[in-house]
Amino acid sequence: MHEQALIDTANALVVDGKGILAADESTGTIKKRLDSIGVESTEKTRQTYRNLLFTADGAQDFISGVILFEETLFQQADDGTPFPKLLADQGVIPGIKVDKGAKPLAGSPEEKVTEGLDGLRERLAEYAAAGARFAKWRGVIDIADDQPTDYCIHVNAHALARYAALCQEAGIVPIVEPEVLMDGANSIERCEEVTDRVLDAVFAELKKQNVMLEGMLLKPNMVIAGKQCPQQAGVEQVAQATLRCLKRRVPSAVPGIVFLSGGQSDELATAHLDAMNRMGPQPWKLSFSYGRALQAPALAAWGGKDENIAAAQQAYLKRARNNGAAARGEYSA
Ligand code: 13P
Repeated sequence: MHEQALIDTANALVVDGKGILAADESTGTIKKRLDSIGVESTEKTRQTYRNLLFTADGAQDFISGVILFEETLFQQADDGTPFPKLLADQGVIPGIKVDKGAKPLAGSPEEKVTEGLDGLRERLAEYAAAGARFAKWRGVIDIADDQPTDYCIHVNAHALARYAALCQEAGIVPIVEPEVLMDGANSIERCEEVTDRVLDAVFAELKKQNVMLEGMLLKPNMVIAGKQCPQQAGVEQVAQATLRCLKRRVPSAVPGIVFLSGGQSDELATAHLDAMNRMGPQPWKLSFSYGRALQAPALAAWGGKDENIAAAQQAYLKRARNNGAAARGEYSA
């Protein structure tokens, strides 16, 4: 029913030279970010910080969409405009994180499964009415000696596909995010092997559950060595391994792949995306849906002080501009 609208929105999110700002930190995660700059997390400080990001003039030249947390979707900018309207008036598409977080997996409690399917159909209708046109659901896969198990991969892939099908029914573009974490000591080869297994399972489930690939986006991790691994791969190696893995597993009907940054430094997240686009053309658009890699310098520059808001906005604009260039394969450090 919503087929053409879904296709149009998915393509608009990966239009040339633009990507997505992930500003959908849950209440727990935003508290950690605000703690890191010595700011207490209250509804007001969260609103002030998001207002700073969403009113940074010029960001709309590089940012196609913003993923919001539920609280933010229903908050207003300083001038009283609801945040989704503020974004839409700039030509930026409002999105919403709809999962309820990763919880210990019964039967394999070292691993996690993402919850939030119960009542999702009703929530999606409310979010659409509030202006959300796309959504995000994140499955979390950790690498350890005997993990991930096929069980963990399967339940997360199954939930991602159930979420995606419900989104499309509601006319909302699903961003399907199976994140293989980069926190461990594993090699890049091991990350490639696990990412391959995960994407294989995810696309099998999407097919079984009749998700229209043309009306969704994939948000994967890059194929990269774990942070604790003594042997870190170079930029070209990360780009090649990531592309090899994606080409094997992601059908070209998917209009775009928008990477998460996952704890990479902001400079490296930009360099990796740029390198992949320089190796193009690719079967899909390759862009970004970064949280930390777009926000970290802005958060630090703000420090919770009104007099620093302009400087924080400049820091955010710089990251947005550089990643916009990387989405075209035209970034120069
Ligand atoms: P990072 O880019 O900080 O990984 O955040 C993106 C995101 O939305 C993770 O779910």
